[in-house]
Amino acid sequence: METMQAIRARRSVRKYKKGAPVAREQIERLLEAAMLAPSAVNSRPWEFVVTDKEEILQKLIEAHPASRMLLTASWAIAVCGRPDLQPKHNFWQQDCAAAVENILLAAADMGLGICWCGCYPAEPRTGAVKEVLGVDSVPVALIAVGVPDEAPAQKGFYDPAKVKFL
Ligand SMILES: Cc1cc2nc3c(=O)[nH]c(=O)nc-3n(C[C@H](O)[C@H](O)[C@H](O)COP(=O)(O)O)c2cc1C
Repeated sequence: METMQAIRARRSVRKYKKGAPVAREQIERLLEAAMLAPSAVNSRPWEFVVTDKEEILQKLIEAHPASRMLLTASWAIAVCGRPDLQPKHNFWQQDCAAAVENILLAAADMGLGICWCGCYPAEPRTGAVKEVLGVDSVPVALIAVGVPDEAPAQKGFYDPAKVKFL
């Protein structure tokens, strides 16, 4: 798919075909897209926790109040920040967001449904998700991944009022 086509095709899907297989290789491709994202001083201040375990998905739903789409998702990918890998800067949140967006665009290209569920800096969800994942890093986002069972309308659009050409 052409890049601009994938950007236009991407949207948040919150209903997936329950139990539909999404191969580990497809998830690894999404993770490759994530790790190809730019990062400040190339510090790559991220790590990823991935699960398809029903009981862990359920715990994530309990930890994150707006992640109920995980009920039908095949996988969850947690994008977690490692501020310790970027001691001289404070761009790790932006680096993680770039990694999230790369996952979303790669998923659109592959015909997968996804939804970005923001964690950091909202509490108590960040702490609660961190506990479920058992990590020392900072959960920035949970991404639900599955085979789409809905086709939401596009919400994004070009708005010239938000642009100032100097
Ligand atoms: C930082 C961030 C956090 C978000 N958190 C959630 C969330 O917790 N739950 C959810 O259902 N959608 C979440 N979304 C998805 C937005 O609701 C969605 O992107 C927006 O409504 C536009 O729709 P679209 O993605 O289909 O263009 C989040 C998006 C961003 C960028």
